[in-house]
Amino acid sequence: MSILASDRLLRVLKGQAVDHPPIWLMRQAGRYLPEYRALRAKAGSFLAMCRNPELACEVTLQPLQRFHLDAAIIFSDILTIPDAMGLGLYFEPGEGPKFERPVRQHAEIERLPVIEPEQSLAYVMQAIQLTVKALQNQLPVIGFCGSPWTVATYMVEGGPSKQFSIIKKMLYQAPQSLTLLLDKLVQSSINYLRAQIIAGAKVVMIFDSWGGVLSQADYQKFSLAPMQAIIQALKADPLTQATPVILFTKGGGQCLTPLSQSGCQVLGLDWMTDFKVAREQVGPELILQGNLDPALLYASPEVIYEQVATLLAQVGHHQKHIFNLGHGMLPDVLPEKVAALIAAVKTLAPQYYPLPDLSS
Ligand code: CP3
Repeated sequence: MSILASDRLLRVLKGQAVDHPPIWLMRQAGRYLPEYRALRAKAGSFLAMCRNPELACEVTLQPLQRFHLDAAIIFSDILTIPDAMGLGLYFEPGEGPKFERPVRQHAEIERLPVIEPEQSLAYVMQAIQLTVKALQNQLPVIGFCGSPWTVATYMVEGGPSKQFSIIKKMLYQAPQSLTLLLDKLVQSSINYLRAQIIAGAKVVMIFDSWGGVLSQADYQKFSLAPMQAIIQALKADPLTQATPVILFTKGGGQCLTPLSQSGCQVLGLDWMTDFKVAREQVGPELILQGNLDPALLYASPEVIYEQVATLLAQVGHHQKHIFNLGHGMLPDVLPEKVAALIAAVKTLAPQYYPLPDLSS
């Protein structure tokens, strides 16, 4: 299948009509695709693919060659920033991302550099440029970074965590150390997203996977405020101010009102958050993204169809919606289920979506 052109995502972001909601999926390139697994085996590792712009571009395009998706998301990882800061990122098979040198002492945090992405992360910008060129501007490329809080959890814990006790100890015993770390991540993320936009990303997304483990007050201070600082800096810069920002906090359902006031154009919802309740809370203007349970793709095509129908009915005629899951694709789903999901959206959405006025 060849890659079809689509401006649905950009049209929805501009408030223009579309024939169905733009569709893309978090982790749309990844282990559930046999062609991804084959390329990773050839390249040697996930990180080898990320660091090679040609391979990162090829992986980014893989899901688009299989499915009619409305956006590409550049193939990379949120942990490229701490890797560029010198922490030594590696992946232990079955255990997820780890750092050789986690940061826990104030002096270690003081020594961390703010990254200059044009130098230390040039491979990401090259991958974006190659992808934009390969897509001939017919599909938008989404750039991204992790939220400072989420990235800090990996830097301090040294890898994935269940209790987050080391970083929470820092939060309560040495908040000035955590604040300094978050400040350096804010500055680095601003530089990084700016460089991705200059390289050709049309939309950027901030992934806050672990904001939901904080109390509401701590969430606002240590997770939302740093993300807001990134958005404000992008909005203040003529080069980046027109680029829409998608904000996604997994477990952010309790903080929708402050999230909606963060300056983002799009709010990503996880599957624990009721779509209609979210819409009532954030008001009619904000674009919402999401929010089916990624595990739905274990279900039969009939059940997938029913749940897509329920979600689209909840969205109704109010078209400020980007179709997505409520978190990343799981590695063991069958690609056929993704095809069934997309087909269901294309079948069911037209009843809610008038044909777009092509003259606008
Ligand atoms: O959405 C996309 O397709 C773009 C690529 C992307 C990846 N990671 C590729 C990847 C994006 C946007 C991310 C973001 C990311 N990375 C997050 C935030 C989103 C989320 O899922 O909450 C986080 C927390 C990370 C850190 C990270 N990297 C984790 C937890 C893992 C998975 C470890 C595991 O073994 O399950 C990774 C590795 C990773 N990043 C893979 C992919 C496709 C799998 C690597 C592989 O084994 O091939």
